[in-house]
Amino acid sequence: MPPFEKILLKNMETPGYTGSLADYERGGGYQALRKVLGKIPPAEITETVKKSGLRGRGGAGFPTGVKWGFLPKDYQGPKYLCCNADESEPGTFKDRQLIERDPHQMIEGMLLACYAIGVETAYIYIRGEFVLGAQILERALAEARMAGYVGQNILGARTSINIWVHRGAGAYICGEETALLESLEGKRGLPRVKPPFPATHGLYNKPTVVNNVETLANLPHIINRGAEWFAAIGSPPKSSGTRIFCVSGHVKRPGNFEVPMGTTLRELIFEHAGGMRSDKPLKAIIPGGASAPFFTPEHLGVKLDFESVAQAGSMLGSGGVTVMEEGTNMVWAALRLMEFFYHESCGKCTPCREGSSWLVQTMRRIVDGRGRNSDLETLVELCQNIAGRTVCAFGDAEVAPIMSTLKYWRHEYEELIQQAAMSAPAELMMPVMGKH
Ligand SMILES: Cc1cc2nc3c(=O)[nH]c(=O)nc-3n(C[C@H](O)[C@H](O)[C@H](O)COP(=O)(O)O)c2cc1C
Repeated sequence: MPPFEKILLKNMETPGYTGSLADYERGGGYQALRKVLGKIPPAEITETVKKSGLRGRGGAGFPTGVKWGFLPKDYQGPKYLCCNADESEPGTFKDRQLIERDPHQMIEGMLLACYAIGVETAYIYIRGEFVLGAQILERALAEARMAGYVGQNILGARTSINIWVHRGAGAYICGEETALLESLEGKRGLPRVKPPFPATHGLYNKPTVVNNVETLANLPHIINRGAEWFAAIGSPPKSSGTRIFCVSGHVKRPGNFEVPMGTTLRELIFEHAGGMRSDKPLKAIIPGGASAPFFTPEHLGVKLDFESVAQAGSMLGSGGVTVMEEGTNMVWAALRLMEFFYHESCGKCTPCREGSSWLVQTMRRIVDGRGRNSDLETLVELCQNIAGRTVCAFGDAEVAPIMSTLKYWRHEYEELIQQAAMSAPAELMMPVMGKH
């Protein structure tokens, strides 16, 4: 693999690095903030971020500078920035590492974003289970306040920015940006109908930007080293920079790996993550978190950038890469994921609320050896009635494991149903209308 310089994990991989303010400053931390405060006009920062090609690392991959540009110009009232530290996507654990091991990198990124979009109050919405991460952030913010990086008149300039940590209660849906805003407002975390978008009607109905931890952590480096430097890394022009991939499952070395975008799945799994944990061959890969359709070993050559993964039929999503070896039952694997989505469906939209229950029941029946011939048709019909018919992208996410396992491993479903047919009395195999 060609050598490259890590951006986001570089500090924390330096021996002895603790993530303290002193350590961060020693490595050049807060220089980007010093460079811009009162010296470079905020609009120029947004332009730099646009030129860098940085796209959101939370899932959808929306261009960050373009998103900032949607905030109404010359708006006089309060505006907000929310750092999405919910990291609720199964198989994803990069934001946690960025928070726990190098909190100031993300905080400096937040300050730069606030400066660019004229925000004085920012929130970090962190999932409830990240107790340690929340404590580390509180400590880092206290250090940053003492040093004059956060608070009134930062570094003597006219800019004032306060950052507050808000702990969620642990719901997958609260990672979705509008549910996150509802939760932050003290309400039940349910997604809002869009439009209007948070850029105009966000937190407390005010213009708001929601950005992911990893997205924000890139900003100090872009400001320090320039848009052109960042834009040249990875798979320009549409997938610039590096990406932290969280590799889990049946590999020798599970963990977070920062690689330039465009690295192939083969290189990520077999070089960085050490290959398969036993001598069993690779069977399946989820390339971008539980919501991303499965890939097969045929996809090992796919480049990990937004376009290539989408063209191959999945999505880069949250960067959670789950690897499964030969011998894994794919119907069982899809059921496990479906059980998660059923548990986490917020209940707002009928197709998702009711459909997820039907999907789980049908999948369980197949796995338990009680499958019926009509079940595969039922699964497809249910999925078609959920995807694209919900307020948020949760609906599309929950059908992905079933639809993609049906696409590549339909025979495993059929085998389970045939085994059931051979062991069950004939009348049980008749489709029963309306009963699942
Ligand atoms: C069901 C669902 C869950 C999501 N969970 C997360 C999450 O845990 N963290 C995150 O950053 N984005 C998550 N997102 C994406 C956010 O809605 C939003 O697009 C993102 O925070 C924007 O930041 P970015 O532009 O920096 O990527 C989720 C989206 C959906 C539909």
